[in-house]
Amino acid sequence: MPRKKRIAILTAGGDCPGLNAVIRAVVRTAENVHGWETWGIRNGMEGFLEPRDEGIWRLTRQEVSGIVARGGTILGASNRCDIFAVPRKDGTTRDESDRVVKALKRNRIEALITVGGDGTHQMAQRLIEKGIKIVGVPKTIDNDIRGTDRTFGFDTAIGVVGEAIGRLYTTAQSHHRVMLVEVMGRDTGWIALHGGLAGGAEAILIPEIPYDPDRLAHKIRARVEYGKRFSVVVVSEGARRPQGAMVYREGESDRLGGVSFRVAEELRRRTVLEVRHIVLGHTQRGGVPSPYDRILASRLGQQAVQLIADGAFGKMVALRGERMSSWPIAKVAQGPRRVPPRGPLVAQAREIGASFAAADGSDDAYADARARHGAP
Ligand code: F6P
Repeated sequence: MPRKKRIAILTAGGDCPGLNAVIRAVVRTAENVHGWETWGIRNGMEGFLEPRDEGIWRLTRQEVSGIVARGGTILGASNRCDIFAVPRKDGTTRDESDRVVKALKRNRIEALITVGGDGTHQMAQRLIEKGIKIVGVPKTIDNDIRGTDRTFGFDTAIGVVGEAIGRLYTTAQSHHRVMLVEVMGRDTGWIALHGGLAGGAEAILIPEIPYDPDRLAHKIRARVEYGKRFSVVVVSEGARRPQGAMVYREGESDRLGGVSFRVAEELRRRTVLEVRHIVLGHTQRGGVPSPYDRILASRLGQQAVQLIADGAFGKMVALRGERMSSWPIAKVAQGPRRVPPRGPLVAQAREIGASFAAADGSDDAYADARARHGAP
């Protein structure tokens, strides 16, 4: 019997609902269509650093059975491993990327599927330059990867935000409070914008539209005058004032978090209403993936195997409209895909009545129109 071709898959970066659906689709498509074996790499790139190749093993069909709806990743993930700068005990770093090349060769693995975000794909690009055949799968709840209209995990995350807002409304209404809901998204406001629309938030603060606390307070006061003594405001973790810095978690220089505390203080100084803030944090990334995410993740996994079969290395699978497509991994590194501040979704949200408390005054025309018609 001729030896079966081997491909491998790793999941790097933060976990994300739908990762297991990708893994399952890869293993099954590789076997069903091509008769290939799939091998798993444990904990992202870290698996290549384990002694005796213990972080690399054959992923059987049994192992991926029943995981389509399971959150997390059966492979494990790591968002701290840079294979080109692995920390040493003495505080310096060492380039261990040759170990990836050697491990793949030793295990007769011909191609690697990297499921990850921009950081993972920057590393993948450097590995491609070393001769490794790589196909990428975009992954992040933030929905901000260039080249694809959607990333899996995003739908689940906005479902969590939408539900949280629904729950917070009852307290906001009963206690006549302003509830601030801080959501993830890093440098982009996709989760805040979609989650805010899904939950019917009165204001949405996103990094792409620097906010002015006076305008936010004005929106909240307009609602009070209208008889609504409560408001729910979605605050993206990257929200900021013009020229203002983003807020990082205490003791961490690269992890955002805590801006809603600042916005709460700003509002307390400007309104008489009680203000509360909650940070949804990792609840947005955990748990069961939505059916949409399972479907998208499965399609991307199938398509990744197809790209390998086509010899289309150096590409990331992508979704354009409803169709599967691809995008050069090299271009993923050009930075995140941001919410267009003058795009249709922002305009629609404004017409529905949401404010972005835009410091540049881009909400004002909408607020004036509402005021003319007696709306808050
Ligand atoms: O990129 C996904 C994401 O969840 C961001 O929205 C968030 O800023 C970051 O990861 C949190 O990372 P960590 O899990 O390391 O705290």
